[in-house]
Amino acid sequence: MSETPHMSTEAAAPTIDVASSIRAEADERPVAKRDVVFNIDDLSVAYGSNVAVKRVNLDIYKNLITAVIGPSGCGKSTFIRCLNRMNDLVPGVKIGGTIHYHGEDLYGADADPVEVRRRIGMVFQKPNPFPKSIYDNVAFAPKVLGLPGSMDERVERALKGAALWDEVKDRLKRTALALSGGQQQRLCIARALAVEPEVILLDEPASALDPISTAAIEDLMHELKRDYTLVIVTHNMQQAARVADMTAFFSLEVAEADRYGILVEYDETTNIFTHPADKRTEDYVTGRFG
Ligand SMILES: Nc1ncnc2c1ncn2[C@@H]1O[C@H](COP(=O)(O)OP(=O)(O)OP(=O)(O)O)[C@@H](O)[C@H]1O
Ligand SMILES: [Mg+2]
Repeated sequence: MSETPHMSTEAAAPTIDVASSIRAEADERPVAKRDVVFNIDDLSVAYGSNVAVKRVNLDIYKNLITAVIGPSGCGKSTFIRCLNRMNDLVPGVKIGGTIHYHGEDLYGADADPVEVRRRIGMVFQKPNPFPKSIYDNVAFAPKVLGLPGSMDERVERALKGAALWDEVKDRLKRTALALSGGQQQRLCIARALAVEPEVILLDEPASALDPISTAAIEDLMHELKRDYTLVIVTHNMQQAARVADMTAFFSLEVAEADRYGILVEYDETTNIFTHPADKRTEDYVTGRFG
């Protein structure tokens, strides 16, 4: 993808000024007028002979928060991992259909998975800092990638972007493992921000956190969407309703001996929670599921 405007390293040169962008006006355009970041067409994923998700179609829009909800095992993590090619790392995985990222085939022959993962960062359920200092956690990926500019400034910018700077600026050289769970998760977000991605995927980022840390992560997501496109998997319906602009409801389809995840409904979050089009969505969001 090196020749495409969206995936080239040249286009990926540092452009993000978190402080000034936070001052910028929020983009209030209606969803239909927004730019599409991911166009997902007929996506199916199997692990060996087990189909995990089948025939998913949806568009993910720029500078919005998209939530993925649904019962355990319906393929939410599988789906989100396809968006930055994390599933490539699973032996025996088969991915069908197409995902276009800014019009470029994410799985095309000239797409570089390493560059894809730099543009599309990921934060996991369990905070997973490296057993290194706070500073080195944030500086690690930029160092490996040889990103230009002052590392101190980059680390500070990422920690500020993740709303962690004030809490750690006096102990940057101390181990990240001494941070609280909520701080560790914000450090992981800072680590994702440090390589200046365009998209951040978050797979249940707050499910191991207390309510105060959860609220901090949710506030942070609202700030981040001015600069980034965010996709979040969550089991917490209130969280989806609070943070997401768009919500995708996945469910498990049982067909004879097969069980696989399907996308039941995708719409603006208010519609999903107040007048869903599908009975299965309604049952799930009102707690009548299962
Ligand atoms: N690495 C893997 N190897 C083999 N099968 C997998 C792998 N990851 C997921 N699966 C299978 O794919 C299906 C969907 O799993 P996935 O983790 O995507 O669901 P989920 O919706 O994220 O569930 P949860 O809410 O419990 O996190 C499950 O049947 C699961 O066993
Ligand atoms: Mg999951």
